[in-house]
Amino acid sequence: MELKEVIGWRRSIRFYWPYRPVERAKIQKMLEAARRASCVGNVNNTRAIVVWRDQASPELLKALTPPLGYQQMQTAPCFIVWYSDAAAYEANKWISDLKGLAETRRLGSDTEATKQQIDKSLRPLFTAMWKQAAVAPLAFMDLGQAVAQATLVAYDEGLGTCLMSGPMMLDKVNKLLKLPETATIVCIMSVGYPAESAAAGGQTVKAPFESLFFEMEYGRPMRPDPQTVQELKQAKLIQEAAPLPWRDEELKHVVRALGIEEERQLSGFQSGGES
Ligand SMILES: Cc1cc2nc3c(=O)[nH]c(=O)nc-3n(C[C@H](O)[C@H](O)[C@H](O)COP(=O)(O)O)c2cc1C
Repeated sequence: MELKEVIGWRRSIRFYWPYRPVERAKIQKMLEAARRASCVGNVNNTRAIVVWRDQASPELLKALTPPLGYQQMQTAPCFIVWYSDAAAYEANKWISDLKGLAETRRLGSDTEATKQQIDKSLRPLFTAMWKQAAVAPLAFMDLGQAVAQATLVAYDEGLGTCLMSGPMMLDKVNKLLKLPETATIVCIMSVGYPAESAAAGGQTVKAPFESLFFEMEYGRPMRPDPQTVQELKQAKLIQEAAPLPWRDEELKHVVRALGIEEERQLSGFQSGGES
């Protein structure tokens, strides 16, 4: 699929065929895409733990379940726990990663001069602030970029995903996954083959373009050009909005086929969160 079309088909998928495993190779491709994402100083702080449902303890599955996650948690054959590792920002490592960019000619034009500049102006700064930087918004933005790339590869491979967060039993998850103290879990992703149609009831409705983006200053909306909108519709980046007329019937059918409501009540499967 073309990139714009993949973006267009991406929407959160909450129902999966539980009997259809996700190929290890597809997860590897997703993780490789995450590894290729941009990140500050090339420190590579994004980490992931792949959890295969059939190998996971009920205790772990329960701890991973957010308040609004029971459909995904009951049906997805695979989960990815995405976390940021603050250790990636340690000052000497950060400096060394930056110098690595200079050495591989990916930063600056004169390797030695760039390395000297890094030592002179950045070493004192990083030494003073790496601990704050490691848990600052930019660190989690970088993780988000990696997750976004992995997500698009998943859809390109015919999979669906849904990110989950909320009050989960993160202390328990940390312990069960044996995460280091420097880890901050950001979100859990379910991955599987959609039990819904690819349209999943239509493209998720977003806030109007001009309410989100501005030109030159806040309050001066960036107006979308209708011809470009048309072009994006043709490229399938913009698709038919939810809900499509048959969505209610589809949901009933999927819930019945997967036995979700019944199973939730029978097994007492419930959220690991507090609400
Ligand atoms: C960080 C994050 C956490 C989310 N947590 C949940 C969740 O706990 N349960 C859920 O059903 N959806 C969750 N979602 C999915 C959002 O509800 C969804 O992305 C949003 O409604 C936009 O829809 P779209 O992904 O189809 O564009 C989460 C999404 C993100 C990015």
